[in-house]
Order: sequence, then structure tokens, then C-alpha cells
Amino acid sequence: MKKDLIFAIETSCDESACAIVEDGRKVISSIISTQIPIHREYGGVIPEVAAREHLLTINAVIEECFNCADVDKNDITAFASTLGPGLVGCLLIGANAAKTLSIMYNKPYIGVNHLKGHVCANYLETDLEPPFVCLLVSGGHTQIIDIKSYSEQTIIGETIDDAVGECYDKVARLFNIPYPGGPNLDKLAQNGDKKAFYIPKPKVSEFDFSFSGIKTHMLKLVNSLKEEKEISIEDIAASFQHTVAEYLIEKVKKFALQKGYKTIALAGGVAANSEIRKQAFELQNEGFKVYAPTMKFCTDNAAMIASAAHFLKEDKKYLDMEVFSRA
Ligand code: KG4
Ligand code: ZN
Repeated sequence: MKKDLIFAIETSCDESACAIVEDGRKVISSIISTQIPIHREYGGVIPEVAAREHLLTINAVIEECFNCADVDKNDITAFASTLGPGLVGCLLIGANAAKTLSIMYNKPYIGVNHLKGHVCANYLETDLEPPFVCLLVSGGHTQIIDIKSYSEQTIIGETIDDAVGECYDKVARLFNIPYPGGPNLDKLAQNGDKKAFYIPKPKVSEFDFSFSGIKTHMLKLVNSLKEEKEISIEDIAASFQHTVAEYLIEKVKKFALQKGYKTIALAGGVAANSEIRKQAFELQNEGFKVYAPTMKFCTDNAAMIASAAHFLKEDKKYLDMEVFSRA
């Protein structure tokens, strides 16, 4: 049977990424050009700056992706891009590039939902098949999703305020840790004592989350410790990280048990977090099968978008489909 060779572009935030993926699982080529050094100066992503940067970079990333793959553009089955949610100016650059390629090479254009892309990162280079429960943790979202089949995804619970990645980035700012705070805070936490401080877990309904209370608790804790001579940032970070991971994993495990699912998958940028991965993989001792994308496919990339374009046939959109900012 002819292979489904999808070329995808992801430009929803601060990474210009392109990938070619065969049959939704085999990564032929994946290029990610990050803007992190540009945005670090401002402590966060400036949407207009990000969009201009995508415009300057995208053609070179497309060409590099094809060169690395040694694939001819005529052999591509469909051209895909992220339609949203994300920064509209940024999404437009990727969507217009993919739509242009689809017109030039007379192949379908597939518009992909970024969040579904994160879930599909779990199919890359694995044999994972639905049904399973997915914990999606990113800069903008925190969700427990029931993946009933490749195309049927139901959100079971989500954050009622901040996303976990947002909480990480804000807590990192309390310690003057440079953008992006999440990975840097994770590094500090790995050298601290997780039992040093008690961080309460917010009580919300069964499968929902709240992170604004944790953020305020951290602010108060850091302020109360300002006078102390020998406070360990590592200990504070480790206590925060341990509580956040436990809070997330407890809920996803509860849903898996309730539903009788034996497979749990992590997705999104925060799934790169060492403690969340550790606690998730410990569930294997309790009989669960646990999946998490490799680090480079946790944070934004285009291979996950190509995989979603392959598996989520219902996401097939036409050239007049427009980008959108919110889910
Ligand atoms: O999925 P992603 O790349 O972009 C969105 O779709 O939002 O996620 C980015 C988020 C940022 O908040 C970043 O700080 C966080 O993922 N992140 C981490 C780690 N690596 C990335 N948070 C905690 N620990 C990490 N190791
Ligand atoms: Zn993302």
C-alpha cells in the first residue's frame, strides 16, 4: 500500500518547526528552530516579534526539512499545519506556507488542532493504540483526556485557572530564573529536598485542576523566607515540583482506575518534566503501561502535527479554514 507521507508545519508560539512523518509514526525528518534566546530578553513571548521571526525563518526550515529527508515535494501525500490554538500572527505564517505548498503541488491541505497534535506525539516511533487516558500538560493547557479512539477524544477535566506550564513559568520568575522558567526550575528541583516545605494541593472537583492557589502560596512562601540567611532555592523548587507532579498523577491515575484503562500517556511541554515523568513511570509497578513522548517531541514540534494529520481524519480541512487563537 502507498505510504502516507505528511509534511507539517508548526508555528503556534515560539518555535518554527517542520517535519515529514510516514504513516503517522515514522519520523523521516524533524527540524525545530527555536526563538527562546530572542524572547528571553523580555521574560516571555512577544507575539508580534514571534510572528516576524517565523516569517524570516520558515522558508529555510522548510528547505532544511526536505534536504534532511531526501524527499521530493511531489512525493508528499498532504501538507498540514497547526490551525490553533495559539498566537494568530504566528499561526498565519505556518498555515499560509502549508496552504501555498498544497496549491503548488496539488495535494490536500490538513489543518490540525495543536492540542490533538500534542496527544499524537505519543504515536511517534511507538506502537501505542487507543483507548488510553492522556494527561496533557503545556504552557496553556492542563487536561485529562479520554482517548477513546484515534478520532474520539473527550476532555474529562481541566484547569479552572492557570495552566501548569504557566504556573511553572510564574514561580520561576519569583527566583529570577530566565525564560522559559519550567525547564530551569526542573533542573534546580532535582538537587533539592522535596520534603523541605509543605505545599497544599488545591481542592477542586474530581478531575479538574487549579494552579493559581499554588502560585500564590509560593509567592507568600518566598516572601516569608526573604529574611532567612540560608534558604535553599533547590529545596523550595523540589517541594513545589513534587507536589505539582503528585497532584497531576493522582488524578490521572484515579480516572484510569475508574474507567478500567490500563494505559496512561503524557503529552505537552511540561511532560518533559523529570518528576512528572518519574511519578508517571512508577505507575508501571502498579500494572499500568505508561507512554511519554521523547523530550524533543514533548515541547512544540511539527512531527506531532504530521502524526495528527494522519490519524485524525476528521480534522481534514480545506484551504479556506482559518487559524484560531483559543480552543
Ligand atoms: O507544549 P509547549 O512547548 O507549548 C505550549 O503549547 O504551551 O509547552 C511549553 C511549556 C512552558 O510553560 C515550559 O516552561 C514548560 O512547557 N516546560 C517545562 C519543562 N519543559 C518545558 N515545565 C516543567 N519542567 C520542564 N522540564
Ligand atoms: Zn504546545
